[in-house]
Amino acid sequence: MNVVDEVKERLDVADLVSRHVQLKKSGRYLKGLCPFHSEKTPSFFVFPDTQRWHCFGCNRGGDIYNFVMESSGLDFRTALEELARQAGVPLREQTPQEIKAESEAERLRALLNEAVRYYHALLMNAPQASAARAYLRERGFERETVETFQLGYSLSAWDALRTHLLGKGYTVQEQIKAGMLVERDDGSTFDRFRDRLMIPIHDRRGRTIAFGGRVLQPEQQPKYMNSPQTPLFDKSQVLFGYHLAGRAIREAEAAIIVEGYMDVMIPHQAGYRNVVAPMGTALSEAHLKQLQRLTRRFILALDPDAAGVRGTLQSLETARQTLDRDWDAVFDPRGLIGYEGHLKADIRVITLPDGLDPDELILKDPARWTSLVASSQPIVRFYFQQMLAQQDPNEPKMKSRIVDAMLPLLNDIADSIEREAYAQEIALELGLDPRTLMDRVRAMERAAVVRSQAAVREVAPTARGPSDLEAYVLRVLIHHPELQQRVNELLGQANLAGLTEADFSPRYRLIWSAWTELSEHPELELDDFLPSDMLTLVQDWTAQQLPDMLPAQWERDVVRTILRMRERGLREKLQEAHVTLATAQAEDGPTSTPSIKEGIKQISEELRELQWALAQRPAQA
Ligand code: UTP
Ligand code: MN
Repeated sequence: MNVVDEVKERLDVADLVSRHVQLKKSGRYLKGLCPFHSEKTPSFFVFPDTQRWHCFGCNRGGDIYNFVMESSGLDFRTALEELARQAGVPLREQTPQEIKAESEAERLRALLNEAVRYYHALLMNAPQASAARAYLRERGFERETVETFQLGYSLSAWDALRTHLLGKGYTVQEQIKAGMLVERDDGSTFDRFRDRLMIPIHDRRGRTIAFGGRVLQPEQQPKYMNSPQTPLFDKSQVLFGYHLAGRAIREAEAAIIVEGYMDVMIPHQAGYRNVVAPMGTALSEAHLKQLQRLTRRFILALDPDAAGVRGTLQSLETARQTLDRDWDAVFDPRGLIGYEGHLKADIRVITLPDGLDPDELILKDPARWTSLVASSQPIVRFYFQQMLAQQDPNEPKMKSRIVDAMLPLLNDIADSIEREAYAQEIALELGLDPRTLMDRVRAMERAAVVRSQAAVREVAPTARGPSDLEAYVLRVLIHHPELQQRVNELLGQANLAGLTEADFSPRYRLIWSAWTELSEHPELELDDFLPSDMLTLVQDWTAQQLPDMLPAQWERDVVRTILRMRERGLREKLQEAHVTLATAQAEDGPTSTPSIKEGIKQISEELRELQWALAQRPAQA
């Protein structure tokens, strides 16, 4: 059973409502004055049998969740949290190991927070930190930036942090586990970070999970010391600055990926906040998955030296392998339909002037940074230039090798005109006939089309989707989020309310609200909102391809399905009202029921309107 149902099972609608409304038992239901509109005779009914409530005066109704949402003005998620707390149901079913791991993680996070406070206070006030303060000034840091990133300073001592944390009740074992102490072979320990500028590293929710520590004297080694892998910190997953960049990436419709801590913090200070950095590694699949939720444009601003270029090329390749593709329908020469994948992402590269990092460049000349971003090179061009730099393009064999390397990249480009333009550019540069190159591109496309046909045939029969209407709507919207606005417009044109969480039964309402919440909190993940069984369901939906239809067909299909959902809901409501009417008449006599009759009339009218709207929208052939 999922949490939503379990909470419902444990709580009683009559108990809950009677905390707000004085209810009088009357046969198989209870009634009272509606809390949602003003009235003198009761038309507010609670049905213990079905665990539902309904007001026949204002036609509000639903289950315990709706009641708490209406009466306390909460969204579904918060209502669920509140009711789950009352019912003593944990929101996520956790195994004992998970519970243990979570409380341990909680403890380690608290320990790290204490370390952040400790280091920060030293940086701000300690006489020993004067060199660190001078260093920050020299690198262009303003006080506000030091606060935003909670920078700190670790003393030049072997046990300063250990002593401080012991005083706060954190054991040596915990400090080792959090990565703050290094353990010697003989079991003794010492502070990992000494005489360093301390940079806290956060997870995507802004919780401290690790530190990077920079030396203050150039001759010291290593330049940066980072926390080791801990239960909280896996460097291949983390992007430095992500928790502060999420919103800006959305707004700028681009994520700028730089190399280091300084290259994130100084741009942030200068107002360029859509900047993140991996932790001294190439981009990983995990990095890209996080960023992809925020944007389709990735701009890599990496070192121009040889190692930097290798890293860039590796990151670009990971990006091509990882990022989503759009599947376009194309016709092959025999008229068969196939699908070819173009990269959904726009990946660009900024080549920095030699010897300058983004932080230095921005401090020197902010306008230059803006123009570098604006003139960033598309990946195709960057690759091509790298190929030219590495191979001799006058050697015929090399020409052919370069062309072979460029074809997949050309094929990634979604826009066919753009694709041709780059193909021409490359052909001209290599001294080839552009038509020859375009023929190769098209041949490659055709090969890709034929290959993908088999895949499409496999998908189609299973892609008709779950029979359940609500699940169907959610599944389509998750695959095509851009439909939502259009669907609401269409509903509006028919004088109907847009899609809201009230359209969903509790089980799916949770998914709906998680999904909508996510668009407002792009920095979070679905698993921050959903219990595991529903998460699995949504992951299945996401993994399954939908059949290929035109946007207009999806719109119609989704609107029609929503109408059918609502019709079904109204029919149920109507049936409930008739039962209530019959019971009320049997128990209170025929004159006591005008409000129920009025309610029935209203529901019937709504239903008629809906059925009319449905009739206007015949199902598709
Ligand atoms: P860089 O050597 O490019 O340093 O390393 P930086 O970021 O420009 O730092 P400044 O400007 O000299 O202060 C890039 C990133 O690689 C990781 C860090 O994450 C760093 O930000 N790195 C580098 C390490 O982890 N350890 C090192 O010793 C050096
Ligand atoms: Mn630097």
